[in-house]
Amino acid sequence: MISPRRAVPPHIALPPYAISGKSGTAPSGVAPSDSTTIEAMRLAGSAARRVLSAVAAEIAPGVTSDHLDEVCHETCIAEGGYPSPLNYNGFPKSLCTSANEIICHGIPDDRQLRDGDIVNCDVTIYVGGVHGDHSETFLVGDVDEASRRLVAVTRESMYHGIAAVRPGAQVCDIGRAIQARAEAEGYGVVREFVGHGIGQIFHRLPNIPHYFDPAARTELVKGMTFTVEPMITAGTPRAQLWPDGWTAMTTDRSRTAQFEHTVVVTDEGAELLTVTPDEPQPFLLADAASRLSPDNWPQQLNTAAVQSS
Ligand code: CO
Repeated sequence: MISPRRAVPPHIALPPYAISGKSGTAPSGVAPSDSTTIEAMRLAGSAARRVLSAVAAEIAPGVTSDHLDEVCHETCIAEGGYPSPLNYNGFPKSLCTSANEIICHGIPDDRQLRDGDIVNCDVTIYVGGVHGDHSETFLVGDVDEASRRLVAVTRESMYHGIAAVRPGAQVCDIGRAIQARAEAEGYGVVREFVGHGIGQIFHRLPNIPHYFDPAARTELVKGMTFTVEPMITAGTPRAQLWPDGWTAMTTDRSRTAQFEHTVVVTDEGAELLTVTPDEPQPFLLADAASRLSPDNWPQQLNTAAVQSS
């Protein structure tokens, strides 16, 4: 059961779709963001990171996804922002929660997380006129080794994709790197859902496939802002939608994981926007080995909870 829509106080600035539920038509170009927009996106991105951190701290067996939605909603408002999913094309909640065989866009409800689940929580906040989009997949209690490995490789795949970002590279280089990492471990890469341009608008061009798409020849240019958010599957990567029109599930019901950052293309590579200012920026490092060393990556949220379980 889905709880009633949560209220947003009047001092919170709304994105254009918040009342109508209609996202409208995004601009067709792939123009880079200007420096004012990028600075606003650093603030929105770090807010998204803090909101996801607050959600992560609540994850435990017996907790409902509706509770996680409430924490997301209230933390977005405390940050002075609007939870971007709320009423985006009619989406009923402030957070996406996608457990086990759910690929993405799961709707929070009264289902309790169970010991051994994996759950992706996808936060987007609209603050300062721009969106920050960020997700991680969390372990709930005692998770089997196969699922832990799926989650770990999904995170690595995302970072391998981000490590391919630099001016002059092409969009397809990102998916090539992700697919290589995931398929080397025997996993599938979901095709139906892709990363996206983001800024003042939640979803816009360019599309960022997480597999090698030879048609994705758009050149990466300094200042472009987009998400990298691979969905990796233990079995088939084919997706099927639930009758709710949102929830996407693997057709073989195998488990799937997802991680997501919002990034901006810089002279050096990619700056992670969905981190706090004290976190590392490995994709500004010059050499590939340093970028790809997990020691240099931002910490996974709620690892303390994982380790104590
Ligand atoms: Co996204």
